[in-house]
Order: sequence, then C-alpha cells, then structure tokens
Amino acid sequence: MKKPENRPPYEIDPLLSQKAIAARVEAMAREIEAHFADTERLIVAGLLRGSFIFMADLVRELRLPVEVDFLEVSSYGDAMTSSRNVRILKDLRCDIAGCDVLLVEDIIDTGHTLTHVREMLKARTPHRMELCTLLDKPSRREVEISALFTGFTIPDAFVVGYGIDYAQRNRNLPYVGTVRLLEGEG
Ligand code: IMP
Ligand code: MG
Repeated sequence: MKKPENRPPYEIDPLLSQKAIAARVEAMAREIEAHFADTERLIVAGLLRGSFIFMADLVRELRLPVEVDFLEVSSYGDAMTSSRNVRILKDLRCDIAGCDVLLVEDIIDTGHTLTHVREMLKARTPHRMELCTLLDKPSRREVEISALFTGFTIPDAFVVGYGIDYAQRNRNLPYVGTVRLLEGEG
C-alpha cells in the first residue's frame, strides 16, 4: 500500500530569488574570510540537513583553507511546530579542540537548536567558534542568540527551498519561498 503524504495542500510563494541568495552568499564569504584571515585550521561544520546547499555554495566561495564536517540534531518533527528537545543524531567526525569552527545553520527560529549545539561544541574547547545562518527569524526567538554572519532576516513565515524542507520536501528548490496552506482543500 502507498504511504499517504502527511502534509495538507499548499503553495509556495517566492521570497528570495536564486540570484539574491547567490549574491548574499558571496558577500558573506568575504565577511567570513576577513574574520578568519589568520586561521590555522578552520572547520566549517554544517547542521544537517537544512544547511547542506547553503554550505556547499558557501565553502566554494571561501578563499581559505577549510575542512568540512557535519552534525545532525533533531529539533523538528514533520510538522510546522518547534520542539525544545534537541537530540544528537549524528556527531562531528573532527576533534575541534584548538580549531576555528564556523557552525553553519539554515534558519534560526526560536534559537533553541543553535543554543544547544553551540554550548555542546564550546565544551570541546575550540580556539574560536562563530555562528553562520542563511536565515534569521528574530521575531520568533525564545532564547537570546544571534549569528555573527546572517544571510537574510525574514519575517515570521514558514519557508522552504535551498536546502530547507517542509516535511522533507522542497529542499531542492533553488530559491527560498514561503509555504501558504490552501484552506478547505485536500
Ligand atoms: P529553532 O531551534 O527553533 O531555532 O529551530 C531551528 C530549526 O528549525 C532550523 O534548523 C530548521 O530546521 C527548523 N525551522 C525553523 N523555521 C523553519 C521554517 O520556516 N521552515 C523549515 N524549517 C524551519
Ligand atoms: Mg535545521
């Protein structure tokens, strides 16, 4: 039997174009290069899965010797609601002690995920650790946290594309759009 899809019908309204994202990622790379100009070892650590496209584009713009690594934590289920329970599903492979770390996230929403991950990684005594996020929704914040490098500040809307999903779909969209649920259908 076919597994039913667990998302109501919706449409996606464009928010950030592919071109606008590319320009911003390039500018962010210049900011990051300036910040880490003297680095001896920079590990770019991406939070799976939402950051994978952003991170792939970002590291290709970075004219610095970088290593890449990934970790995965669970913060959201397949719903548009946040959960405060942050669990490590996949840890970094690198030992970050004494290294420079750029922690790359797709979106900062309530702030719980990144706060938790930052504290966990800080305990491993990196030389420096900075936060980098493609998107920031400051109006949704429940714990105070901000990234040194932010791509775009966006309003309180549920977004998809450029790596970011709605119930695992739409990560492959080359742009970022907002999800609009179609009422009374489906
Ligand atoms: P936080 O712990 O509330 O800051 O949640 C951050 C995580 O929630 C992000 O890494 C995303 O995976 C997910 N998230 C937050 N807002 C959105 C959204 O608009 N679309 C898709 N995922 C989101
Ligand atoms: Mg995420």
